[in-house]
Amino acid sequence: MDLTVSLGTLRLANPLIAASGCFGYGVEYAGAIDLASLGGVAVKGLFLAEREGHPPPRIVETPSGMLNAIGLQGIGVHRFIAEKLPELRRLGAVVFVNICGTTLDEYVELARILSDAEGVAALELNISCPNIKEGGITFGCSLTGTHSVVSAVRKVTRLPVIPKLTPNVTDVASFARAAEEAGADAVSLVNTFLAMAIDVETRRPRLSNIVGGLSGPAIRPIAVRMVYECRQAVRLPIIGMGGIATANDVLEFLIAGASAVQVGTANFVDPLLWGKLIDGLTGYLTRHGIERISDLTGTLDTTKREHAWISS
Ligand SMILES: Cc1cc2nc3c(=O)[nH]c(=O)nc-3n(C[C@H](O)[C@H](O)[C@H](O)COP(=O)(O)O)c2cc1C
Repeated sequence: MDLTVSLGTLRLANPLIAASGCFGYGVEYAGAIDLASLGGVAVKGLFLAEREGHPPPRIVETPSGMLNAIGLQGIGVHRFIAEKLPELRRLGAVVFVNICGTTLDEYVELARILSDAEGVAALELNISCPNIKEGGITFGCSLTGTHSVVSAVRKVTRLPVIPKLTPNVTDVASFARAAEEAGADAVSLVNTFLAMAIDVETRRPRLSNIVGGLSGPAIRPIAVRMVYECRQAVRLPIIGMGGIATANDVLEFLIAGASAVQVGTANFVDPLLWGKLIDGLTGYLTRHGIERISDLTGTLDTTKREHAWISS
């Protein structure tokens, strides 16, 4: 049975990647999980400089999901390269570095720096974080902004460039198209949905930032629909995510058109879910007599259903 998948020139052992912001810098999990057994690890979003993020409260549980407004707290790219990357390399992790900028130049600078660092497999451009006001999502919510970030980064790196799309737009497929035209190697989607929760007793927002990003199973059907729409619009490989917690959830994204998936919020519920996902996927392939998991991508059957009650 073949679980390997390809994202352009990048070959992964299986389609399961840890999602950015939900798996630290990967090394924190090394005592519990063999990082080399994952398809990849997308590390917490990095700016050039260290950032403190928003003050607490910055996480709230919601029905079938969670709301976060971390505000991209992070150690900055230089400390990441010095303190985390050597260990990730030693552990055999396929590292997707999620990069964030407030300006186009910052994305370019980050891409340059990371292209010279040994052990980076791909750059995931975070142009979709709903929790910061400056930069980031401003690019991701504008077609020209998306195009200009991707093409500027494309010019300075040979690493695979994977813009991460926001679901907070009307027509996500047009953003996938803009990314493709600008030279992206793949797209990943979705980031979190802009949302808020209120404590009615105090009439205060539950997050210090007032609004935050919704993730977890609550968003999955919308994310699956968006992956399906992007599959119709572009030829690029798609990395799908949003609420994946079981092998069946992974399969939904693959059948909708994703070549690989990321798992985020579910890590907070069960950090050891990876083995169960792999077992569920291999069980499915065996039951359906499918040799290669990559053969499932985009195999949604949209032929009209027979309505037994109409013909009888
Ligand atoms: C606490 C938290 C922090 C996140 N931080 C990042 C980040 O730094 N960069 C990024 O691109 N996405 C970030 N995300 C978004 C996730 O990577 C993912 O796109 C989203 O949560 C949907 O997947 P899920 O439902 O499996 O969590 C974060 C999500 C959560 C819940």
